[in-house]
Amino acid sequence: MEDKLKAILSGATESIGRAEDAGALEEIRVRVLGRKGELTQILRGLGELPPDKRGAMGKLSNEIKAKVEAALEEKLSELKSSKFSKLLEEEWIDVTLESPGSTARAKLGHLHPISQIQYEIEDIFTSMGFMVLDGPEVETEYYNFEALNIPSYHPARDMQDTFWTEDGNLLRTHTSAIQVRGMEKHNPPFRVIGPGRVFRYEATDASHENTFYQVEGMMVDRDISVAHLIFFMKVLLREIFKRDVTIRLRPGYFPFVEPGFELDIQCLICGGKGCGVCRQSGWVELLPCGLVHPNVLQCSGIDPGAWSGFAFGLGLNRLIMMRYGINDIRHFQSGDVRFVRQF
Ligand code: DAH
Repeated sequence: MEDKLKAILSGATESIGRAEDAGALEEIRVRVLGRKGELTQILRGLGELPPDKRGAMGKLSNEIKAKVEAALEEKLSELKSSKFSKLLEEEWIDVTLESPGSTARAKLGHLHPISQIQYEIEDIFTSMGFMVLDGPEVETEYYNFEALNIPSYHPARDMQDTFWTEDGNLLRTHTSAIQVRGMEKHNPPFRVIGPGRVFRYEATDASHENTFYQVEGMMVDRDISVAHLIFFMKVLLREIFKRDVTIRLRPGYFPFVEPGFELDIQCLICGGKGCGVCRQSGWVELLPCGLVHPNVLQCSGIDPGAWSGFAFGLGLNRLIMMRYGINDIRHFQSGDVRFVRQF
């Protein structure tokens, strides 16, 4: 009987070793430990043994049963873990890889560089007490020209030819039209800026575009002088370029200011020594400005004897081109996301 028991153990151990899945193990369990299993039958037959052998055989049988059970258990967990590693091996995915459809998937975008700088400028001026005004892109001749001291016979209109609608309106050529709306709406003293898109009938090249962006600014108060103008422009430029910027004023003609200026900044690329960006002059023209013409104040119902003001018109495209070293204004409207993604 002892030999039989040992044979059962070695037979079971061997087949457990060869088993390839849980099903095979279950078959072994039934064959050996099941109700009609090899070992069960032996245990049943114990009663027929002489009493002095019964104890030893019973003990041995139980030991063997425990060994078979343990071996089954061990093999089962071995099979389970190897099944898991096999799965891992075969079905792993790299979650950091872009999926094949990822170009079509919505990607987080960001503001266009023009909007970015516009919002920056709005923050700078609102922190100094300026209101932000809006105006229509399709303007009347009155707001765009007449009220800015540019009557229909004025040659300054030639420089700002634009797209006209059939009913006699036009695509505004500058944000200066917003000044007029500001003056009509608010009693002095007031400070306003007016950002927006403007249009010109323009032959396009690297520095000319038919559609671009400006921020107009205007401050009306008592005894406004060029000193006030210079102060605000310097704050603006220092905030934008994050350093002190050397400026100079040159006389410049605009019908709505007197005196009128071209404000130049010392070239930030070469520090004034002369380079390609400043065309070897050391200076870059950036900001036309001046003291508001009395006719303009008068036209919008502000007494030029009591009030005075300064105004400026900042080109946003030019500003960004300076900041990032962009060499062609046409990129802004190209619709090429490779360009926009850089900012
Ligand atoms: N509106 C002018 C233009 O687009 C720019 C400008 C010049 C605006 C002088 C002003 C100013 O307010 O004072 O060319």
